Amino acid sequence: MAKAKTNYTCSECGGTSSKWTGQCAACQQWNTMVETVIEAPGANRFSQSAHQALAQTAPVLSLKDIEALDVPRFGTGIEEFDRVLGGGLVAGGVVLIGGDPGIGKSTLLLQALANMAQLKSVLYVSGEESGAQIALRAKRLAVDAHELKLQAEIQLEKILNTLHELKPQVAVIDSIQTLYSDALSSAPGSVAQVRECAAQLTRMAKQSGVTIILVGHVTKEGALAGPRVLEHIVDTVLYFEGDNHSSFRLVRAIKNRFGAVNELGVFAMTDKGLKGVSNPSALFLSQHDNQVPGSCVMVTQEGTRPLLVEIQALVDASHLPNARRLSVGLEQNRLAMLLAVLHRHAGIAAFDQDVFINAVGGVKITEPAADLAVLLAINSSMRNKALPPGFVVFGEVGLAGEIRPAPRGQERLREAAKLGFSIAMIPKANVPKQPVEGMTIIAVERIDDAFSRLRELQ
Ligand code: TYD
Ligand code: MG
Repeated sequence: MAKAKTNYTCSECGGTSSKWTGQCAACQQWNTMVETVIEAPGANRFSQSAHQALAQTAPVLSLKDIEALDVPRFGTGIEEFDRVLGGGLVAGGVVLIGGDPGIGKSTLLLQALANMAQLKSVLYVSGEESGAQIALRAKRLAVDAHELKLQAEIQLEKILNTLHELKPQVAVIDSIQTLYSDALSSAPGSVAQVRECAAQLTRMAKQSGVTIILVGHVTKEGALAGPRVLEHIVDTVLYFEGDNHSSFRLVRAIKNRFGAVNELGVFAMTDKGLKGVSNPSALFLSQHDNQVPGSCVMVTQEGTRPLLVEIQALVDASHLPNARRLSVGLEQNRLAMLLAVLHRHAGIAAFDQDVFINAVGGVKITEPAADLAVLLAINSSMRNKALPPGFVVFGEVGLAGEIRPAPRGQERLREAAKLGFSIAMIPKANVPKQPVEGMTIIAVERIDDAFSRLRELQ
């Protein structure tokens, strides 16, 4: 096949050049030139044919005349996976699943495909493993692999051909970074290849109605390798999270054109593959026989589901000129901000102390409702005094030292009560109108207020 013509386009400004250059001649940015396929020149917009082209464009409709059809969905046979997808897969939808190597992407997709193969035609395209390796895994997972079609291929054009001929309803591409298109000369995994392959596959999905699931690798920084444009091209972006050392895996929806984001699926990795955990709220609590200093339990809300997570802090005298601030599973910058609030509004200084915080179980908490728990854990570690038993909190802390409400407060309280927590310190605006059974509520407005109310309890 003849090579398609390519040139280099700046990913910042769109400037082009026929050769690769380190710096874009148009906008002077460095390392932004990416190889791209030159599209066949379309009709010039000033030529005669431009008018014909315009005449064929889609008609302009008013929104009220367009029927709002509910997209039909089909399940993957894995309840937790359907939950993150917003109820299941959509025909013609493109899903991108990212995650660290070895976290379980291929395992989950093989399980899902094997389930779906009972009713639908499915195709598994693997560029990473041979057919024998996948067969071995299917055996290990004890899934029914009779109807599962497999192709070990990395050339995009051949894969598109197979999709065209086989017309599967669901296809998994494992992984997008191993594919290459003949049209480009750059290596598989390069920005240009990843973008081109994803765009072509997406076009195929939209035209033929096949649901495509792309597997993507993440870089060291935790972003999906390849361009961010990948996230714009696809309909749904899911991320695998979790600690490689623990058996729990979380799948989170980052973007979903067909459902809510921040929905969370919880799995446990077993010797028979990934198993859904339907009641995960107590998963991220560590088991202490007695209350220990530096530990505070919070209720976080992930999508529609409240989760109880233990936040741990360790504060220790620093011997470095710049005291260390380290956070695992929580935002680092927010920690510095919270320590400043702690100093200014509660009079507790930590400038000469190393501060480490950790969300137990490898869970990542991005919502600001974790602030209050972080501050209480830090204070508890500093004073070497444990929080009372059955104590749970949530609430955002503002720069003025105020405690701001968190969404869905009542649901959080109910979940905590269900798991046996009996005292909740929450923002005043979150106090429920009806009391929650078995739960004493301490409403606080300011951070210093929170500390003084806590001292009464200890
Ligand atoms: P895998 O799905 O190959 O990861 P990815 O495709 O995201 O790179 O996951 C492989 C890991 O999961 C590997 O370390 C072994 C483990 N595993 C189990 O613990 N149990 C199993 O049944 C399977 C198939 C894998
Ligand atoms: Mg894999």
